[in-house]
Amino acid sequence: MQMLTDASENCCLFTTGSANQLKTGPIYCFINQTQYYIELIIPLHMAFLLVSAYLLLTHTQGAPVENGALLETLKSQVGLFSNKSEHYSAQVRPPGTSRRIPQTIIIGVRKGGTRALLEMLDIHPNIVVAATEVHFFDWDENYVKGIDWYRSLMPFSYGNQITIEKTPGYFTSPQAPERIHDMNSSIKLLLILRDPTERVISDYTQVYYNRVESHKPVQLFEDIVIKNGALNTKYKAIQRSLYDVHMEKWLKHFSLDQIHIVDGNTLIKDPLPELQKVERFLNLPSRIMSSNFYFNQTKGFYCIRSDGRERCLHESKGRPHPLVNNTVLEQLYSYFKEHNAKFYRMVNHSFDWH
Ligand code: A3P
Repeated sequence: MQMLTDASENCCLFTTGSANQLKTGPIYCFINQTQYYIELIIPLHMAFLLVSAYLLLTHTQGAPVENGALLETLKSQVGLFSNKSEHYSAQVRPPGTSRRIPQTIIIGVRKGGTRALLEMLDIHPNIVVAATEVHFFDWDENYVKGIDWYRSLMPFSYGNQITIEKTPGYFTSPQAPERIHDMNSSIKLLLILRDPTERVISDYTQVYYNRVESHKPVQLFEDIVIKNGALNTKYKAIQRSLYDVHMEKWLKHFSLDQIHIVDGNTLIKDPLPELQKVERFLNLPSRIMSSNFYFNQTKGFYCIRSDGRERCLHESKGRPHPLVNNTVLEQLYSYFKEHNAKFYRMVNHSFDWH
């Protein structure tokens, strides 16, 4: 209902629903203004009171879990934000939030499924994630910028939320373990690993597409991996798959119970159980549900359903791999066998790798 006043006639003109009605005289004015107050002003007052109560709650209680959930509900109802972390990374600070140094870091491994893990954890109302790979602990030019620079790249979060950043390069970086330990010696780390041979092929595939996109020459997988008839163990992608070598460096600074290993192969086939293990590791209530995932036949991977929308990972994740010569595959399997066995002993856990 809309109210207009017509001064010359000293009457009230109301337009309601389907028909326009013109009524004149003080009685009609009184009746219609009362109606106007009931229909418009009272709901406005109520909305104002509700918003004030919500703001008061977020300021006074340091935003407990329910407030985060309430905010999520409000957001999805008003359709302001399509994704939790997009909102928390915004420049304007939501009341009761601040930027915090991560309490958890996904340290790698490159091509292990780090993006899938991060995006899937972002479903949890008590988790906020950094939108981009920060490369603070592995790139000297960033590390010298200091901890305040690092913090400034984190999303806004409530006191009850865990901030997570992921930089897959940390796992293979010689400096990252000590630098992270210096920042927070009791930090919880997440490491997602997959079959080392599959990881090498995935690594190759990513570089292959990057080179094609920038019009650079490309080589066959076999031509890079085999040099002079033997396995080219200097190939960086192979080096990155030596999980025991890298893990040894982390275990010099952190105890095993600070590092939770996510099985990247299982995360692809059946994400929920892996994510529930992470929830337990982070002491978070179980909030990620099977309804948060659906299998997308076209992509051939699980996609995410949350905040009232469905999304798959970027097209660069889950690309088809080249068909690799069987002899080369066998050479890779046998090269990694000893390293894998050593890694299983180190972490007291075995995986289903070749
Ligand atoms: P491929 O693209 O070689 O298949 P990262 O994010 O660390 O770069 O890892 C990328 C890998 O994540 C992909 O490698 C893919 O196999 C894996 N992955 C796991 N779950 C996925 C999902 N739901 N959608 C797309 N890729 C997923």
